[in-house]
Amino acid sequence: MSAPFVSIGRLSEHAGRSVSLRGWLNNKSSKGKLHFVQLRDGSGYVQCVVFQKSVTPEFFEAVGRAGQESSLVLEGEVVADARAPGGFEIQVKGGAVLQSVDGFPIGPKEHGPDFLLSQRHLWLRSKRQWALLRIRDAVITALRGFFDEHDFVCMDSPMFTPSACEGTSTLFEVGYFDRKAYLTQSGQLYAEASAMAFGKVYCFGPTFRAEKSKTRRHLTEFWMLEPEVAFATLEDVLELAEDMLVHTVAEVLRRRKPELEVLERDLTKLAAIQKPFPRMTYDQAAAILKDTPDSTFRYGDDLGAADETILSLRHDRPVMITHYPAAVKAFYMKREPASDKVKCVDVIGPEGVGELIGGSQREDDLELLLHRIREEKLPEEAYQWYLDLRRYGSVPHSGFGLGLERTVAWIAGVEHVREAIPFPRTMYRMEP
Ligand code: 4AD
Ligand code: MG
Repeated sequence: MSAPFVSIGRLSEHAGRSVSLRGWLNNKSSKGKLHFVQLRDGSGYVQCVVFQKSVTPEFFEAVGRAGQESSLVLEGEVVADARAPGGFEIQVKGGAVLQSVDGFPIGPKEHGPDFLLSQRHLWLRSKRQWALLRIRDAVITALRGFFDEHDFVCMDSPMFTPSACEGTSTLFEVGYFDRKAYLTQSGQLYAEASAMAFGKVYCFGPTFRAEKSKTRRHLTEFWMLEPEVAFATLEDVLELAEDMLVHTVAEVLRRRKPELEVLERDLTKLAAIQKPFPRMTYDQAAAILKDTPDSTFRYGDDLGAADETILSLRHDRPVMITHYPAAVKAFYMKREPASDKVKCVDVIGPEGVGELIGGSQREDDLELLLHRIREEKLPEEAYQWYLDLRRYGSVPHSGFGLGLERTVAWIAGVEHVREAIPFPRTMYRMEP
């Protein structure tokens, strides 16, 4: 090949010039003396026109035989064409079929979810998955950029932990030499220690829950981004969550519009994600649910998925619900004075996507926190280091955790979180 190798995503920089492309055959149609090859290289898709007279007979025939996912090198001229997706097409002058494939398991026809999940290593190549996972990438970049711009320090928490953060019933136990360890449910407790050292921090990594739920919102391994801020109140982190979500949606709209279009996402729904987000207390939410005929909600219970859907469908942006009963929330949440409610928030996404964020102001009083640890019958020894944070310069502090896959599924407008992570882990599936 004499022309330089370029990526499809940057074709606009090479209009009118000869280039070489490397990729895979996504689709092909042939009409007599012409093959129309849709080539993908990971950065994008482009139509390549192979005209019999412009290439060797051997190459024309090899392209004719090449099936879906054959690997190819194509050389040709980049021609602007307003009708072509992406605005360009390639008039091919030569190339090579690196491997000719026949019988790729995933075709353009409809496949069931179970089959596709078992073929996840190949399913990643399909256009919808490509679009969706590029949106995931942009969400991650937007989030990291947001925290960086706001002077947060990234301080990651460990995956192996000796104790629980979010209740003992959903821990994955693993062998740790001659001891037991748990895969982390949340990096929060360590982020609190980091916040006392660095002020404004976030951790971002995989978290694990042995939840026996097979809903479209649950993974056993999911990514969580958790900011933690020294001296912040619940009110402060409500604002932080709002700014973070508005920024993230705007960035995805700016950088991933073609991918959103592949997914046929309604962009007006995303454009509506502006401040302020509606806020209500648990009591106010309960009053709405009481007046909703088909709600089965009982006062005092946690909000279920159906309740969250009822509340979210009343608004075009995320809803922030605060002050749940302490009894349904985690041990570390700070109590409202003389009340059975805690200073916490759940942010419920729009369009019925469910809880995107859980957060709170943290209990900063040593005695009250110790009391809650005992009440929950948690092993006190394992929390001594955490209690140290209340012994040495305790200050008010708050934070939250954003579920990455739920956020990606919401922004991309896909039904199920299992598509919003490259290799999903669910109750019934660990392969491939
Ligand atoms: O509400 P959660 O359990 O909060 C915490 O873990 C806190 N320690 C976070 C903190 O304050 N630093 O989880 C936070 C978010 C949920 O709102 C949800 O988006 C996501 O994590 N999440 C899940 N996502 C996918 N699959 C699951 N099984 C999830 N469980 C929680
Ligand atoms: Mg929660």
